[in-house]
Amino acid sequence: MQKVAIVGAGRVGETTAQILAEQETCREVVLIDVREDAPQGVALDIFQTAPFFEFDTRVTGSNDPAAMHNAEVVVITAGVPRKPGMSRSDVLDTNVKVIDGIVDDVVRYAPQAIVIVVTNPVDVLTYRVWQRTGWPRERVLGQAGVLDASRMAAFIAMETGFSTRDITTIVLGGHGDSMVPVPRFCTVNGIPVSHFVAPDRLEEIVQRTRDGGAEILALRKNSSAYDAPGASVAAMVDAISHHRNRLLPCVALLDGEYGQHDIAMGVPCLISHSGLQQVVDLGLNAEERAMFEASAASVRTDIARLKPG
Ligand SMILES: NC(=O)c1ccc[n+]([C@@H]2O[C@H](COP(=O)([O-])OP(=O)(O)OC[C@H]3O[C@@H](n4cnc5c(N)ncnc54)[C@H](O)[C@@H]3O)[C@@H](O)[C@H]2O)c1
Repeated sequence: MQKVAIVGAGRVGETTAQILAEQETCREVVLIDVREDAPQGVALDIFQTAPFFEFDTRVTGSNDPAAMHNAEVVVITAGVPRKPGMSRSDVLDTNVKVIDGIVDDVVRYAPQAIVIVVTNPVDVLTYRVWQRTGWPRERVLGQAGVLDASRMAAFIAMETGFSTRDITTIVLGGHGDSMVPVPRFCTVNGIPVSHFVAPDRLEEIVQRTRDGGAEILALRKNSSAYDAPGASVAAMVDAISHHRNRLLPCVALLDGEYGQHDIAMGVPCLISHSGLQQVVDLGLNAEERAMFEASAASVRTDIARLKPG
């Protein structure tokens, strides 16, 4: 892949750019931000790590949205993060204005791009990008489930002592309090996680996963999480860049899958060079389906707050 643009050179944007460069996921990463000089400074700082990590990816920064010209992937991390005590929905009104302006730039300068939305509330803002661009759903994704699943895997590793490499987890639904970790599909090298973790401990892990972002925000105090979020975005870009056909939980527009239409939420997605190849509709049991539907209702409440297009 030639070029990835990251709009928002804040904490998540910077971490994503560093990982993309270290892994040489693309030839060029451009960071764009409204803060004067900031993206240029971030880009220089990252590129000066090239001698250590031995990468040839060029990293540049700009205050001009035109710098995203012809990017194949545009990652949107611009906007305000929540503060302790706030929910992700509390930043919707501010961030939707930010997103609308960026979407117009993306349509203008990178009309063939695949967009990955990170800004919260990510489900409703992914929906907004799809609505405002008018693009096919294949090219509009949101990052949430890769992060939530990595949090759950980390908690299972901490509980069992197993390597995270052997732990596979899946988290569906909206990226909020109503997210739906699905322990039934979580394994340690193919063995159901319930073989190793008692039901009450597993339920605690599920709840800690739901609260994973708030836990870090409460500990860090002046910033929300950005290391694992950056790594999660980089994993999605890598799947696109390397045509990997990876099955990743992503925010996608639903067109009948899981009984839902006209909504964006976290579902297992086949991701490859042209973005979303397929939404995998898992057969949820009654309890899982009820949780998924409750999560959908909560995302719809936020979507209803959007003004037309
Ligand atoms: N989806 C997820 O899993 C996930 C995880 C972590 C954070 N987030 C979200 O990502 C967003 C960014 O978080 P952060 O910690 O990097 O915040 P941050 O404050 O460090 O960075 C945000 C950046 O966006 C820039 N910005 C604002 N308006 C802009 C515009 N119109 N164009 C370009 N840049 C603009 C700001 O100047 C700032 O540098 C937040 O909304 C946060 O809630 C999502």
